[in-house]
Amino acid sequence: MADLALQRSVGERRPIEHVPALAPLIGDYDHRRRTFSWERARHWLDIDGAGRLNMAHEAVDRHAAGPLADVVAIRFLEKAGPTFELTYAELKHQSDLTAAALRRLGVLPHDVVCTLLPRMPELYLTVLGTLKAGGVYCPLFPAFGPEPVRERLALGRARVLVTDRLSYTRKVEPHRAELPNLEHVIITDSDERGCPRGTIPWSRLLMGGAAAYHPKENVVAPTWPSDPALLHFTSGTTGKPKGAVHVHEAILAHHVTAEFALDLRPGDIYWCTADPGWVTGTSYGILGPLSCGVTVVTDSADFDARRWYRILQDERITVFYTAPTALRMLMRSGADLAREFSFPALRHVVSVGEPLNPEAVVWGLEAFGMPVHDTWWQTETGAIMVSNFPGMPVRPGSMGRPVPGVDVAVLAQGDDGRAAVVDGRVQVLTGPDEVGELALRPGWPSMFRAYLDDPDRYARAFADGWYLTGDLARIDADGYVWFIGRADDVIKSAGHLIGPFEVESALMEHPAVAEVGVIGKPDPLAGEIVKAFVTLKVGHEPTPALARELISFGRHRLGSVAPREIAFDQALPHTRSGKVMRRLLKARELGLPEGDLSTVETPSTQPAGDAAGEGSS
Ligand code: WT7
Repeated sequence: MADLALQRSVGERRPIEHVPALAPLIGDYDHRRRTFSWERARHWLDIDGAGRLNMAHEAVDRHAAGPLADVVAIRFLEKAGPTFELTYAELKHQSDLTAAALRRLGVLPHDVVCTLLPRMPELYLTVLGTLKAGGVYCPLFPAFGPEPVRERLALGRARVLVTDRLSYTRKVEPHRAELPNLEHVIITDSDERGCPRGTIPWSRLLMGGAAAYHPKENVVAPTWPSDPALLHFTSGTTGKPKGAVHVHEAILAHHVTAEFALDLRPGDIYWCTADPGWVTGTSYGILGPLSCGVTVVTDSADFDARRWYRILQDERITVFYTAPTALRMLMRSGADLAREFSFPALRHVVSVGEPLNPEAVVWGLEAFGMPVHDTWWQTETGAIMVSNFPGMPVRPGSMGRPVPGVDVAVLAQGDDGRAAVVDGRVQVLTGPDEVGELALRPGWPSMFRAYLDDPDRYARAFADGWYLTGDLARIDADGYVWFIGRADDVIKSAGHLIGPFEVESALMEHPAVAEVGVIGKPDPLAGEIVKAFVTLKVGHEPTPALARELISFGRHRLGSVAPREIAFDQALPHTRSGKVMRRLLKARELGLPEGDLSTVETPSTQPAGDAAGEGSS
């Protein structure tokens, strides 16, 4: 029974120096870089004789059977109180139990298991347990409101959800009847008596696992490299969120990029500040770093500059992966605060998710004694594609160079800003610094294999053998890639993508609202914030009180993706097909030239009908 509960304890530090026989694991990195090909890299993993491979086995079990068994795999920091640790051996055992428990619950291969949880042990065990059971793991961002949660649970046809009591009663229970596929809800913070009706306490789940578990038996499902493993929702400009499906062999790209771009190797103490509710949290908060055999530090407290510096210092973090918004918040707290701390263990500071200002790169020198290294990738790519590699001269403002084994190009744009496709062909711009849509040649293992239930949308993401990223970029004469902007209307706020259509749809449900157009408005801290332009129905007055009401209405339904600013506009510009022209709203907001207005219709105060399904992303 001792295994059943997660015992919260301050474990003894097991630093890597005390682990014998590690020398063979460390040291051949240069050679691996020089001779790299995806085919060769497959030999770095434990692919069985028949060619089967399972992400969780690669990330954890492989190490639990070797010299890293007693090294701390994950160290959970909590706001107050004790810290909890799991070694690789313990993480293997606990995730085995979770897998056995999920299987006993009825989880079958390819079933979707979601979490709606903050950073806590049960989240990590659910990820690994689901993968071991052959299921598909799908994270939900804990700051989402009830509407985005319901929509993603429904689109993913989730069979199991692991969450806490408050999130369940606020965000899921009111919609439970509309989610026929959601058979089991596991509650992490309640016992049998405290669980809401129709849910199961985590302790009972694990008891089922223990009963079904035989230590001699390998619980890991014999998955194939092309079996689905992860589902990550991302946002487009129109229609529903897109469910990007990744397969088990993606772990190869997580591993290789964690090694090459993040510089991870056994002995590292690594901190990734991304929330596990987004793709960075899975690829580089869990799978990639564990596959490299490092100690992952994770913190459940909210941002606080002093606390972050203290963690970097006291935990002796060696590699730090964070986002521009977080760096800007650190910068704002001043250099003096940074100088109160010292970071002798720190070796590499890395950023992702949104444009990294050159000032932030340089500020890294002041605060950490090293520049911040930018990386670029997307939910769809599953892993880092472009990076300022350790040791490479950083060009502040550039995202770096392509990862080995990844071909990158810039394609000539058409009128709509996206790559021009003529007779199925695109034009690759070969001159340095020419601006166009950034494209990647498929072939890396973590490439998404589908948008769930939407083969047309998937097909539209490719042209002439290229995957089209939706970003505009240029490549300089030395092969450094520079981000120019998005080629579409998707909003990036604090590193998170927000689909304008999802926000507009939620606001449209307010009785005073006739029509909405949503844009990203530049913000010094978050990069962009969501601003909504609202046309009111007859009989409603554009008052500050109504604006406040709409903001709270949005916040209640959408959570963190809700608009932070509302402007009333009885004459929203439309295209001939009746869609609100977000591009024009944005140009006006920024005071930019309005561009080609030939397709603008006379403004209408009538709702423009349903724009879903139109557009290309
Ligand atoms: C979009 C992808 C990055 C993985 C997690 C987010 C933007 C990403 C950078 C960067 C400028 C960046 C792009 C990209 N983005 N990294 N280094 N510089 N922009 O994945 O939510 O799918 O977002 O984030 O626009 O397309 P995502």
